[in-house]
Amino acid sequence: MQRIFSGIQPSGIPQLGNYLGAVRNWVALQDSHECLYCVVDLHAITVWQDPAALAQQTRELAASLLACGIDPKGHILFNQSAVHAHLRLAWIFNCVARMGWLNRMTQFKEKAGKDRENVSTGLFTYPNLMAADILVYHATRVPVGDDQRQHLELANDIAQKFNRDYGVDFFPNIEPMIMGPAARVMSLRDGTKKMSKSDPSEQSRINLTDGADEIALKIRRAKTDPEPLPSEVEGLDGRPEARNLTGIYAALTDTDHAGVLREHGGKGFGDFKKALTDLLVAKLGPISEETRRLLADPGTIESVLRDGARRAEALATPIVEEAERLVGFLKV
Ligand code: TYM
Repeated sequence: MQRIFSGIQPSGIPQLGNYLGAVRNWVALQDSHECLYCVVDLHAITVWQDPAALAQQTRELAASLLACGIDPKGHILFNQSAVHAHLRLAWIFNCVARMGWLNRMTQFKEKAGKDRENVSTGLFTYPNLMAADILVYHATRVPVGDDQRQHLELANDIAQKFNRDYGVDFFPNIEPMIMGPAARVMSLRDGTKKMSKSDPSEQSRINLTDGADEIALKIRRAKTDPEPLPSEVEGLDGRPEARNLTGIYAALTDTDHAGVLREHGGKGFGDFKKALTDLLVAKLGPISEETRRLLADPGTIESVLRDGARRAEALATPIVEEAERLVGFLKV
């Protein structure tokens, strides 16, 4: 059975893009893979996080993942800082990856913006830690949204350079799994910008904790164009907002853009938005209700994470020890 690893940052409330681009697929893949899912708190502090909020966001995200259907008994759910093997391998990868490779990362450029001199060095080496997250388990498949593609290519470059430098065939090749019609969910305010937990506009995203009224309001206000929906997929060209909303609808109903347009082509956005709102409320309502129920008992969430970390550590430790031996560290 192939081993899967994926991660999500506890840097705020998870949003619809996280769910449709990643978590929903994580749940489905549990039937056919051995899965490790990680709340990446080490990655979160590459930008400032209030300490009390970070601990609570970690619990909340874990609760939300459980509510979405992650199975912590058949698979592994844990928080990254609890398994030190990630950091040990990340340090080795800091010494394998090249400055030039990291300089090309579009996510770093976007996040750093004009303030490059003033961002944390962790933000720059972020992809090295991400490569370590995956490779410390020799995981071979990584289900993510489209925005993580370049980071996974870099992880493969790091693995190959390690193997070449040390003359071994130790780290496997990683296969990104970028799945479905919502691999890149866009902002509700601007169809050319990614939906994100960190967007300052609340109206730009649906949070997994939003209630029916909030969902209805945000979808009603979502930017669209004056034309009705096209009947053919080609008709979505140059209409990023229409493509985004039909993509969300498609993912939620397990179809594709063509399937949605067969049903809704020719309709105005008023009707389509009503149908989309009903669908979102039906799918997300039970998740937010279950998240709230789980959060009433933080002790249980913490024990799920503790148990996951213990099992993850047992898988990672022999692999990081072998990497350290290959590098030539003296074991005393
Ligand atoms: P993060 O926390 O930004 O997002 C978690 C997952 O959600 C996906 N995603 C989206 N998918 C579609 N549309 C969107 N608008 C959208 N926004 C987010 C992301 O692609 C991701 O799959 N670097 C990672 C976390 C990470 C990781 C890893 C992932 C750390 N180590 C190892 C895979 C393997 C991140 O910041 O995800």
